[in-house]
Amino acid sequence: MLRVEELHVNRGRTKVLQGINFAVEAGEIATLIGANGAGKTTTLMTLSGLLPISSGQARLQTSDGSYDVGATSPVDLVRAGIVHAPEGRQIFGRLSIEENLQLGAFLSNDKARVARAITDIYERFPILGERRAMPAGNLSGGEQMMLAIGRALVAEPKLLLLDEPSLGLAPQITEEIFDFLEELNREQGVTMLIVEQNAMLALELADRAFVLENGRIVLEGSGDELLNDPAVFEAYLGVG
Ligand SMILES: Nc1ncnc2c1ncn2[C@@H]1O[C@H](COP(=O)(O)OP(=O)(O)O)[C@@H](O)[C@H]1O
Ligand SMILES: [Mg+2]
Repeated sequence: MLRVEELHVNRGRTKVLQGINFAVEAGEIATLIGANGAGKTTTLMTLSGLLPISSGQARLQTSDGSYDVGATSPVDLVRAGIVHAPEGRQIFGRLSIEENLQLGAFLSNDKARVARAITDIYERFPILGERRAMPAGNLSGGEQMMLAIGRALVAEPKLLLLDEPSLGLAPQITEEIFDFLEELNREQGVTMLIVEQNAMLALELADRAFVLENGRIVLEGSGDELLNDPAVFEAYLGVG
């Protein structure tokens, strides 16, 4: 579904991504793990068209066609199915929960479908439904993460990009979020690319995993392979 080849991305004068190669197949959960500053967020921002590619390419292949990410606008990438739940959730705190979810539907003319998608989210996370008219800024961090994922789902992703879904959340809430992601993948077949500093969590969930170090992919394998790799353990799992 996604193929990234020799991708180089600069931010200012910094060469952040230095020729990364990876692929995500339809129906799978892939993860990109790595330390703070490795280039994980940069990768996702590039895939959603928010940062220019300096060389190499990223290509999205869906049932509707094939898209060159570098030559497609961010809005057209959403239309093509790449939907990004960004780092730090980016919820609009003064808008209501319902209004935040409606923002996910900014490209959709099908009101009935959008209403159904929002109802599904309220059913899965009743706390969001009960407080639908309240400002989203009143929600806890975990609830805001549910809202951020909900908003992304309203946009009907084919490839859902998630940036640090566990960041700042209590372990129990994180588990609930990750259970939900697994369920989405299993029941609705949503393909995902999850970026995480919490390597243990991400590897347990992922079918396929890539380790990013200073803008380069240094290891890849199935989630289980990397979980059992002594080098990965030492670098990313040994703490805590
Ligand atoms: N807004 C920015 N302007 C310039 N350089 C940046 C910016 N954001 C990040 N960088 C650089 O890109 C590197 C990778 O950042 P990022 O992709 O956010 O890493 P990660 O998400 O893995 O923590 C950072 O180490 C920093 O040098
Ligand atoms: Mg980041």
